[in-house]
Amino acid sequence: MRTHYCGEVRAHLLDHTVTLCGWVHRRRDHGGVIFLDLRDREGLVQIVVAPAVLQAFRTAESIRHEYVVKVTGTVRRRPAGTVNAELVTGEIEVAATEIEILNRASALPFPVDEYHEVGEEARLKYRYIDLRRPEMFARFKTRAAIVRYIRRFLDDAGFLDIETPCLTKATPEGARDYLVPSRTKPGSFFALPQSPQQFKQLLMMSGMDRYYQVVRCFRDEDLRADRQPEFTQLDVETTFLDEATIQNIMEQMFRGLFKEVLQVDLPDPFPRMTYHEAMTRFGSDKPDLRIPYEIVGVSDLLREVEFKVFAGPALDPASRVAALCVPGGAAFSRKEIDDYTQFVSQFGAKGLAYIKYTAEGLQAPILKFLPEHVAQEIVTRCQAKVGDIIFFGADKIAVVNEALGALRVKTAHDRNLIVAGWRPLWVTDFPMFEKHDGKLTACHHPFTSPQVTDIATFTAAPEEALARAYDIVINGTEIGGGSIRIHSHELQMAVFKILGMNEARATEKFGHLLTAMQLGCPPHGGIALGIDRLAMWMTGSASIRDVIAFPKTQTASCPLTDAPSAVDPAQLVELGVRVVVKKEDIYYER
Ligand code: AMO
Ligand code: AMP
Repeated sequence: MRTHYCGEVRAHLLDHTVTLCGWVHRRRDHGGVIFLDLRDREGLVQIVVAPAVLQAFRTAESIRHEYVVKVTGTVRRRPAGTVNAELVTGEIEVAATEIEILNRASALPFPVDEYHEVGEEARLKYRYIDLRRPEMFARFKTRAAIVRYIRRFLDDAGFLDIETPCLTKATPEGARDYLVPSRTKPGSFFALPQSPQQFKQLLMMSGMDRYYQVVRCFRDEDLRADRQPEFTQLDVETTFLDEATIQNIMEQMFRGLFKEVLQVDLPDPFPRMTYHEAMTRFGSDKPDLRIPYEIVGVSDLLREVEFKVFAGPALDPASRVAALCVPGGAAFSRKEIDDYTQFVSQFGAKGLAYIKYTAEGLQAPILKFLPEHVAQEIVTRCQAKVGDIIFFGADKIAVVNEALGALRVKTAHDRNLIVAGWRPLWVTDFPMFEKHDGKLTACHHPFTSPQVTDIATFTAAPEEALARAYDIVINGTEIGGGSIRIHSHELQMAVFKILGMNEARATEKFGHLLTAMQLGCPPHGGIALGIDRLAMWMTGSASIRDVIAFPKTQTASCPLTDAPSAVDPAQLVELGVRVVVKKEDIYYER
């Protein structure tokens, strides 16, 4: 139907006849001449319709915003003084000779306008209109470029793209499952995969050697700005490779990807940091290295001070006293400090002591409890300068790390202290397990290998065991995570036992994997990256929803289709499903 995209019409086509198809972005009537801004995926072009071109002019008169039209005309230079430097097509215009309306449009619920801010609910309900905006095209082109690069890289590196089932059995990745009732086996359910974890391991046991998949995963979990109930992973698994080799392949892919898509050089190699170091220095297992200050331990300086708030934790091996020096923070008002104190209290911090370093010297209510040389030593250790503030956390180690880690990120955002750039790193040596309500759960997932594989040593102190797990973190976001897997049946059973699963239960849930482990299972390991999160960062978007064509809302629903929705009772009967509604949710028809 067309010869060019609207956004492609440039000076090299001067005097050529072109046929364009698109949406009418704007129509302006200028003393008899009608201007149409015609829009498609590649951009806008100005169409000029002169009254002398009778048929076209009449048609143009009836055109409204977002009509879909086909225009034929001649490309010509814009008259002097009317060049639009903001448009890539701004030097030229198309003098229409023919216009055909392909489809009319009713008045839109909101205008398609680059700068127009519309409520998100409305944007999602009419997502196809929202997607007509140029910044949306730009985001989805970048997303497509990311996936294209990744596929090409992995294809070239000998990885096979293999699909795994969506209707499957629950895999424990830590979230709730989306369930699908079975019609052929009433009362039984499939689970949508939280990841293809078990299948990719089975593919390694099949000898596929190197696998990848760009795959949809489903997790029924609380949503945040960087989480969606269905999202896309780049899932990777390899055989006979150790963690360093897997990390190197991924790093190489990241460096190539950032170079090709953003013309950015990432470091070679990426820095590596243990989980313990990340928690101690940054209070987070996904440290944002763009923030130019970190948590500094000061327990050793405070064991003998009379200030009990500090001396208590400083003497307790399970606690710590740590400092966070925020550049320029001496200017914080009483109210700002109170707000930060309130902020850290949500992580269990019982207070937020501070010392301000002003031109007049150190200032703080707590100084009267600290010998001067101790205060000076703290200032030196934190490399504090005039104008800074030093905040303190004194509590159980986890509370201090979490509180000061979150405060580091918050103050950096509040005070605009984040240094622009890309700061990837690997976080390694995660613990195998974490304790929730007295029960151990897997930090990564139960298929991750411990570093010490001697079963007696491992099971004697599982809480201390470290995992062969690694995360890739970029600018404070966990982009991916992976591990070397357990390939011994005995070790896998030992892990299930530690997780509170007896043999019968383990066999019921994972019998297929446990059997396969005894029938020729090679050492294997891999990783999965969050493609949506990566696309969000690489497009500079504020929300993961900006890089997903049809995302879900915070309540995991879709305003466009109105999903999830009630189904025909006959369907439920067929599936053998009865809906039990909570009393407060029942709607009584009167
Ligand atoms: P994990 O659970 O760490 O590992 O997930 C890998 C990556 O997927 C992304 N991600 C999400 N993105 C958007 N919305 C979500 N709800 C969401 N949940 C996770 C993150 C995360 O780093 N099977 C293992 C991988 C392995 O061991 O190989 C797994 O799924 O970027
Ligand atoms: P208090 O002696 O409780 O009045 O506290 C004196 C100062 O220490 C106040 O600035 C408190 O906010 C702060 N503070 C109290 N408990 C802690 C704690 N566990 N960690 C850091 N600062 C604290």
